[in-house]
Amino acid sequence: MFTLAHLSDIHLSPMPRIRRRELMSKRMLGYVNWHRGRKYVHRREILDLITRDIVEQKPDHIAVTGDLVNLGLPEEFLRAADWLHHLGPPSKVTAIPGNHDAYVRLHPKAGTHHWRPYMEANAAGERLFPTPPEQFPFVRRLGDVALIALSSAIPTMPFIAAGKVGSAQRTLLANALDRTKQANLFRVVLIHHPPLRSQAGWHRGLRDAGRLTNVLKQHGAELILHGHNHAQTVLELPTATGPAIVVGVPSASEAVEGRSPAARWNEYGIARKGDGWRVAMVGRSVGAAPVDIWESERRLLRDG
Ligand SMILES: [Fe+2]
Ligand SMILES: [Fe+2]
Repeated sequence: MFTLAHLSDIHLSPMPRIRRRELMSKRMLGYVNWHRGRKYVHRREILDLITRDIVEQKPDHIAVTGDLVNLGLPEEFLRAADWLHHLGPPSKVTAIPGNHDAYVRLHPKAGTHHWRPYMEANAAGERLFPTPPEQFPFVRRLGDVALIALSSAIPTMPFIAAGKVGSAQRTLLANALDRTKQANLFRVVLIHHPPLRSQAGWHRGLRDAGRLTNVLKQHGAELILHGHNHAQTVLELPTATGPAIVVGVPSASEAVEGRSPAARWNEYGIARKGDGWRVAMVGRSVGAAPVDIWESERRLLRDG
């Protein structure tokens, strides 16, 4: 059995010291939001509990689906690279960006470039599907499992948290899904924004959710993991190759007493069964009094 951990929406704190010239319009609003409320919601001590729990459970691989930082400050990207390193080496951890990681446009050598070893194909994945010059989608092959990683992160106007995959990535995704299916692998699609149109409105949602859903329906996938909504959701999308299970996970730093569900990560146990797959999910959440991690859910998602 292969074990895959999924966590998302790290929203790393504390906020680094910020220079006046770094407070351009969008950051200014985000900065005010952070100090008015978000810093009480996304807490470092909660993230550290989740991080330690994942490391102790020793999953075969870990997927991080974006929003590692908050305002897109250069120092935040360096600190997030440090946190990733803590989680595990690039061979064991795959990351993709979220809307907060594209908060403002940065120099190509700054920003998510610092996470590059975590955001690229491995040799086995590259043989199945060569990475395009745009970097996404990239494929990592891990035994019987293929991770197909998308970027939905685009810079937007203030108060807009929307995302977009775009036509180039959608075409390449179709190809990557076909090739990994031909290789008889369990296909896991990683995306920050929830992929289905019903899952988020215009201000926060994926602008091309409908078109992405069509690609997924036509080419199939076994599991689609996302973040962004800071909530646990399990949906099923019928596809040409059988049902794709779509799972969103709460933020990995969310405080227990907030409006959104407390921090959680999910572990998937994936094994071949007959011609199909057996997939079980275990949810591990932060609980109050004492503040600690507990197994909050155990669920069989498919059985052959
Ligand atoms: Fe987020
Ligand atoms: Fe997000």
